[in-house]
Amino acid sequence: MIGVFDSGIGGLTVVKKIFENLNKYQVLYFGDTARAPYGNKGETTIKKYAVEDAKFLIDQGAKIIVVACNTVSAVAIDTLKKTFDLPIFEVVIPGVQEAVRSTKNKRTGVIGTRLTIDSGIYNQLIKKLDPKIKVFSQAAPLLVPLIEENWLKKTETRRIVKRYLHPLRSSQIDTLILACTHYPFLRRIIQTKIGRRVKIIDPGEEVVKQIQEFLKKNPAIEKTLIKGSKHKFFVSDLTPKFQTLASQWLGQKIKLEKVDINLGS
Ligand code: DGL
Repeated sequence: MIGVFDSGIGGLTVVKKIFENLNKYQVLYFGDTARAPYGNKGETTIKKYAVEDAKFLIDQGAKIIVVACNTVSAVAIDTLKKTFDLPIFEVVIPGVQEAVRSTKNKRTGVIGTRLTIDSGIYNQLIKKLDPKIKVFSQAAPLLVPLIEENWLKKTETRRIVKRYLHPLRSSQIDTLILACTHYPFLRRIIQTKIGRRVKIIDPGEEVVKQIQEFLKKNPAIEKTLIKGSKHKFFVSDLTPKFQTLASQWLGQKIKLEKVDINLGS
């Protein structure tokens, strides 16, 4: 099974891409809704949560892990790779690589949670690949709660997006990385506010391309992945709102199951 986890249900944007492009594989999803949001917590806490989330998926039979959370990818990927001996995919590097490939004017924007932006990881990795690129970063902490309220088309949301993007627009970026797995839900508004000429990069799309490549090159691992559509969706806290949003966002009826992964230990 392909194990996918996120702090909550925003990581379903990545599952959607897996369903579109790797649809023969069974997916096992875990959203840590009881402890979300991750984006305004500290690094030590996120490392601990990340290990617990991945362990849960591995115990359930995941043979590869997809970290569908930029915050975890930004601060805890080394910890995960040191702790577990299986292929682990994350969303930062694929987004960085695509931005470096795409920018023409060498001015790239990044929006994400506070922890992702404060980690400086995007700036660091982009500069490593091309020191000439200027990176303009903006934490956008209000977007996750607006998305989770399903305020996707409200005037207030448009205004807040506009305000967050204003400095990036003034900086004349030509590429913008959506460095949070929730943000693809606001992709249209973001595109309108940042301007049609800016290329939006969704790291979820990019990581799925990397997984496809990896599975082609590693048939022995590919064989271990269970095929079929008996996907499972687990969350650490279940409310009717999560249930409704998850089905709506994924565009198909799914059933979330509440699971206790030994929280607070
Ligand atoms: N899914 C998280 C990310 O991609 C954002 C939500 C959170 O802060 O937990 O960073």
